Amino acid sequence: MAVLKDTIIIKDLAKTFYLKSETKEVLKDINITVKENEFLVLLGPGQCGKTVLLNILAGLDTPTGGEITFVNGRPPMGDLGVVFQRYALFPWKTVMGNVEINQKFKGKSKAERQAAAQKYIELVGLQGFENSLPKQLSGGMQQRVGIARAYASESDIMLLDEPFGALDAQTRYSMEDEILRIWEKDRRTVIFVTNNVEEAIYLGDRIILLGGHPTGVKKEYVPDLPRPRNYTDPAFLKLRNKIVANTDLVL
Ligand SMILES: Nc1ncnc2c1ncn2[C@@H]1O[C@H](COP(=O)(O)OP(=O)(O)O)[C@@H](O)[C@H]1O
Ligand SMILES: [Mg+2]
Repeated sequence: MAVLKDTIIIKDLAKTFYLKSETKEVLKDINITVKENEFLVLLGPGQCGKTVLLNILAGLDTPTGGEITFVNGRPPMGDLGVVFQRYALFPWKTVMGNVEINQKFKGKSKAERQAAAQKYIELVGLQGFENSLPKQLSGGMQQRVGIARAYASESDIMLLDEPFGALDAQTRYSMEDEILRIWEKDRRTVIFVTNNVEEAIYLGDRIILLGGHPTGVKKEYVPDLPRPRNYTDPAFLKLRNKIVANTDLVL
């Protein structure tokens, strides 16, 4: 396999919240080097600071220690493709409206914006639904709109924060296949956050297990499993048990 270049270097990152009544140390000594075009999974229990970490990566929050280096330069604020835990769509806007709103398209004519948005609507398989409103769509489809909007940022780096956590199991499995299909078709660096061990193994080129108090990097796993992976493959289950044995909690 080709040697992948470093794209984000997270060094000794720490985040402490100083509240009126307490000091909350959430992240400490986080060291992660993200490789270009890899599918990196951050796996950790609920409340461990995954969203805090992604928000810092997205530039929506600042660390209290350490540093993050974007090897190719920090993408301009708002330029990273982020998919949030909840769909976070504008309910009054159509699918087209939600995708073309991306600020990457600012300054372009409506026709240009829509042509660019159309490409991403097709990438996530929502052609024919351009004029639908979010409430007319299933949860899986709404999350596809979120993915299309994030890809429309044309950022090299995609941050996905438990994007399938709110979906029922069947839809979740099909969205896991979808996100891999999209990643194969339009290679970007993906940082995918989950609290689900099976999802992590199904998706990740590399899995960073977070844990401890405050949260740090506990372990790293590189699943040596061909794609498409199979949840019932003995090698899959073996890795699952290995990771679970190292996990702080079951959620
Ligand atoms: N702005 C904030 N002020 C104080 N505490 C916060 C703030 N944001 C997050 N936290 C705390 O940080 C911890 C980690 O939160 P979060 O990153 O949302 O967890 P996760 O995404 O892993 O479930 C939680 O205990 C949460 O209460
Ligand atoms: Mg979270």
